[in-house]
Parts: sequence; C-alpha cells; structure tokens
Amino acid sequence: MMDYLRSHLSAKLFLSYLAIITISFLVVVVVGQLGAPTAFNRHLAQMGRMMGGGMMGGPGQGFGQGFGQNGVMQQLYSDFRASFNEALMYAVFAAIVVSVIVSVVISRGVVSPLRAVMNASQRIADGHYDERVKVQGSDELSQLAARFNQMAEKLEQIETMRLRLIGDVSHELRTPLTAIQGSMEGLMDGVLPATQETYRDLYSEADRLNRLVDDLQELSRVEAGAYPLDIQPVNVSTLTQTVAKRLGSQFESKRISLDFKLDPDLPPLLADEDRAVQVLTNLVGNALRYTPEGGAVTVSVTKQSSEIEFAVHDTGIGISPEHLPHIFDRFYRVDKSRSRRAGGGSGIGLTIARALVEAQGGRIWVESDGEGQGSTFTFTLPLAKVNKTIML
Ligand SMILES: Nc1ncnc2c1ncn2[C@@H]1O[C@H](COP(=O)(O)OP(=O)(O)OP(=O)(O)O)[C@@H](O)[C@H]1O
Ligand SMILES: [Mg+2]
Repeated sequence: MMDYLRSHLSAKLFLSYLAIITISFLVVVVVGQLGAPTAFNRHLAQMGRMMGGGMMGGPGQGFGQGFGQNGVMQQLYSDFRASFNEALMYAVFAAIVVSVIVSVVISRGVVSPLRAVMNASQRIADGHYDERVKVQGSDELSQLAARFNQMAEKLEQIETMRLRLIGDVSHELRTPLTAIQGSMEGLMDGVLPATQETYRDLYSEADRLNRLVDDLQELSRVEAGAYPLDIQPVNVSTLTQTVAKRLGSQFESKRISLDFKLDPDLPPLLADEDRAVQVLTNLVGNALRYTPEGGAVTVSVTKQSSEIEFAVHDTGIGISPEHLPHIFDRFYRVDKSRSRRAGGGSGIGLTIARALVEAQGGRIWVESDGEGQGSTFTFTLPLAKVNKTIML
C-alpha cells in the first residue's frame, strides 16, 4: 500500500484532496455542533419576543434555563438537534461521495499528461524516435509536453543524420577500397602489369582514402562544434594575402588568373583568422579545381552594413539550378566521376565551410547562371564593433 502510494502521483494527489475534505468536514461538524444550541436559543428567544415573551423567559435567557421551565421546549430542542444531526449526516455523506468522485477525476486529469510523457519517453528510449505527445492548453504540463516534443524532434534529426552519415561514409569508403582490391587482384592474377603506373594508381586510391578520413574527422569536429574558435579582430588584407600566397603557384601552373578586389579602408572582421583563411582557401580552391585552363577567378571583398562580404567568382564549369540547393550537403558532388578525375574531391569541403562560417556568425551561399556560366560563392563575417575592438 505504502509502495503504491510512493510510486503513484495520482494516489498522492487523491489522498491530499481527501485529507483536505476530511478536515473541512470535521470543521463543519464541530462548528455545527458547537454553534447549533446558541443559534437555536437565539432564534427561539426572537420568536418569544415576537409572541409577547413569557413562554421562554426574557431576551438573552439561556435555552437550558428556558427549557427547564417548559418540557415541551426541551422536547422541541432535542428533536431539532436530532434532525440537525441527521441532515448533517446526509450532507456529509453526499459531499464525501461527490468530492471523492471529483478528486479522482481531477487527480487523473493532472496525472494523465505526465503519464503520456512518461510512456512517450519509454517509446523513444526503445528507439521509436517519431513518438510525440498531444499538447492541449498552455499550462505548465502542456509546456512540458511541448518541450518534450521539441526534444524528441531533435533526437529524431540526430538519429536520421547518424544513419545517413554511416550510409554515406561506407559508400564513400567502398569506392577507393574496391579500386584497390581490384588492382591487387589483377596484380596477383598477373592480369595487371606490375608497372609504375599501376602502383601510382594504387597509391592515389590509398591517398584518396587517407584524405577522406582526414576530411571526415574534420567534419565531425566542426559539426559537433568541438573545436576552439579564437575570435578576434582580423585584418582583411592579411587574410586575402595568406590565401593568395597559399594558392598562387597552383593558379599559375593551371594558367588561371587570380585577382583580389578589396574595398578601400576595410574595417577589421571579428573572426577566427585561421578558420576564415580555411573557408576562403576552400572556396578559392574549388574555383581553381572547377575552372578550366585560361579562366579567371576574382575575389571581391566589400563592406556591408554590419558585415564583410567575400565573393569568389569564377569563369568555370558553373552549376545548374537543380544542383544549387544541395551544393553544401555532405558528400554532394555535381558530377562524381569528374570530381574523381579532377583531383578526387569528396564533397565535404563546402559542408565544412558552411559550418565554420555559421559558427563565426556569418552566412554562405552560391549563385550560378547554369552550366558553363561560372559560379559565385559568397560568405559574410561580422564586423568588429569599435567598442569590442577597444575591449579586445
Ligand atoms: N566553383 C565551383 N564551380 C562549379 N562547381 C563547384 C564549385 N565549387 C563546388 N562545386 C561543386 O560542388 C561540389 C561540392 O564541393 P565541395 O567543395 O564540398 O566538394 P569537393 O570539392 O568535390 O571535394 P572536397 O571535399 O575535397 O572539397 C563539387 O563536387 C562540385 O561539383
Ligand atoms: Mg572542395
């Protein structure tokens, strides 16, 4: 019994209602019993005054005294008392029945939303991430249900992402592994000649695997936010010069021009310099990779109201409209075979870039007029506010 009580909120609520009701009835009974004689006496005295006195003594006279002089009155009083007690008993009984029913209904009403949340959380723990509870009203219990649903939705998203990631990663790993396995088999069977070229192909597949694993590691760190951001005022031209130095020779050897157009007197950014360089390098690197020889890449840096905008424009292969919404998705490549030939991109670079830009309070997007029309990748980073600069 005690165990049942301890583990059932509805039983506790019911008992607490019952305790309040019992105490109220006790008070009613005691006050009724104590107050009835005085009230009876007062009313009789009033009646006596109205009837001309005499019968029950003067006003204010005690009823015991009044009744002592008159046996009829004593009988009347004891009849009154009996009928008062009887009525009180019926009233108490009816009130107890009604209040027990009401308290059972109320305690169930309070407990049932909690029970719904409890059952739903059990189903989620069992792996049914689509479970939700019904939200009715706007009290604290309904808010609890709404928050619970939010949490369930987040868990469902994470689970979907996890499953997709496992699927994507195994798919991505399988391609180079199958190539390595095929070449090894060919070598063992003597079908494939053991030439420098075969070994070079094998090496490049292994290298691709290596880069993929590195990229995945970086992606998981970035997506989980598990990397420190050293946010400080950053000079824009230092940032662009670093990128130009890093990629300049590759542009020269592919005979693609690389130009930087910076607004004069650009104020400093508020960003993690290394991460900002990483994003810009990524976009300029893509522009280099997806622009044929003789093309041009231009990086324009402009000041907007509260941010700095970096636009990387190329005259390369462009992106058709159906691909544009997915270009930042993990492992998304417009043309997988071309990506592999053109240096083995794994489609993670832009996903990492977006996560880094958003973590620094910026936005990133792409525009292209279609295939062969070139593309423009733009991202923003917040300006360093004057007072923040002084504080830093
Ligand atoms: N400047 C660009 N012009 C045309 N297509 C582009 C450009 N930049 C990216 N893309 C397309 O977007 C896809 C995704 O780019 P992302 O940088 O994420 O991956 P990747 O370059 O293929 O590989 P990596 O993970 O090595 O960067 C590319 O495969 C390519 O199809
Ligand atoms: Mg890339």
